[in-house]
Amino acid sequence: MDHFLYKDGALHAEDVPVAEIAAAVGTPFYVYSTATLLRHFRLFDEALAGMDHLVCFAMKAASNQAILKTLAQAGAGMDVVSGGEYARAKAAGVPGDRIVFSGVGKTHAEMRAALEGGIRQFNLESEPEMERLNEVALSLGVKAPVTVRVNPDVDAKTHAKIATGKSENKFGIPISRAKEVYAHAARLPGLDVVGIDVHIGSQLTDLEPFRLAYRKVAALTEALRADGHNIRRLDLGGGLGIPYTRSNEAPPLPLDYGTMIREELGHLGCEIEIEPGRLIAGNAGLLVSDVVYVKSGEGRDFLILDAAMNDLVRPAMYDAHHDIIPVVEPASGVEQRPYDIVGPVCETGDTFAKQRMMPPVQAGDLVAFRSAGAYGAVMASEYNTRPLIPEVLVNGHQFAVIRARPSFDEIINRDTIPEWL
Ligand code: LLP
Repeated sequence: MDHFLYKDGALHAEDVPVAEIAAAVGTPFYVYSTATLLRHFRLFDEALAGMDHLVCFAMKAASNQAILKTLAQAGAGMDVVSGGEYARAKAAGVPGDRIVFSGVGKTHAEMRAALEGGIRQFNLESEPEMERLNEVALSLGVKAPVTVRVNPDVDAKTHAKIATGKSENKFGIPISRAKEVYAHAARLPGLDVVGIDVHIGSQLTDLEPFRLAYRKVAALTEALRADGHNIRRLDLGGGLGIPYTRSNEAPPLPLDYGTMIREELGHLGCEIEIEPGRLIAGNAGLLVSDVVYVKSGEGRDFLILDAAMNDLVRPAMYDAHHDIIPVVEPASGVEQRPYDIVGPVCETGDTFAKQRMMPPVQAGDLVAFRSAGAYGAVMASEYNTRPLIPEVLVNGHQFAVIRARPSFDEIINRDTIPEWL
């Protein structure tokens, strides 16, 4: 469920007509709904009620300061994967003890910054990384709280580019080696081993792969406890999928996910952390674009938008589907037509959809990409010197630009000319 609905014939973001935002900020832009963000966060929080838990938003999905603040004020922690994300989380007022640090390649500088600024735990992914963190912690005279990310070798049954829990993926340590690796970690005086971490992939639309992975984590918890490790926290990663089409998809709900977690892991008495990104932000955001031209090609019509692959790369990168709807509500019963929906970038890959059925559209109409709140703005680039597009946050009747469109001068002035030129 989200808060982007037609009211009085016009698409609204909560109580604000999308066309009104377009008139104020220009197109293209991203718009997010506060109510949807909070609703999705709370669904997870409530799904884990009764267990000691923390929902850490995977801020790689959407990292604007205003979004982070909205979630942090509701009690969310953050899952960060870089020094930059750590700095963003802190700048948004998230306390260090609500920040977990994931990622396969944490550097010395990132470890140091997080240890100095405060961190709930590092999710370590290899023995060399363990050694490095041990050195950094000892040099600062502190003990770093850690989990080790295990790779459970389960098939997440999702797109290959976003599956992470098979043995051939670069993530985590093989679960078969976990006992040795934990013994190694326990010998390092700069580390405090607090638990186990697992994340098997993104956009999972079935609970079974999670269940298989969590069952392995439960068995490992007991085995490690038997070896004398004080396993008291389980970080279960993110990955619960969202419906990208309104018709036929019905992925499991956070409540079902929480029930499954309780069934598989509840008896262990561990503190539970989860790291959802997409489910919190995905359906809380739209990308709004203007139709620049309708062009008749050979046997097909192209809708040429002012948004492009640099603004939303998911269709080009993962063949992802995003519903694209007109901002003016189509008359009921209107006959749909097929369009190839493309951006203006000079690559054939700059195609959002082929032969997509839509109500007839004209140049100057506004269209909205649904489910664009996660992995949208954060993956944008300035390819073709197209400025990063604005982000807008709606809250009831109010809206605010939460990232402004840079001017061409701002973009150009980021470059510097060497003295010999
Ligand atoms: N935790 C870890 C360790 C992760 O690697 C990820 C996502 C998450 C949590 C959050 O997963 P989520 O709940 O959002 O599924 N750019 C791709 C998705 C990449 C996901 C990477 N890791 C896309 O647009 O589909």
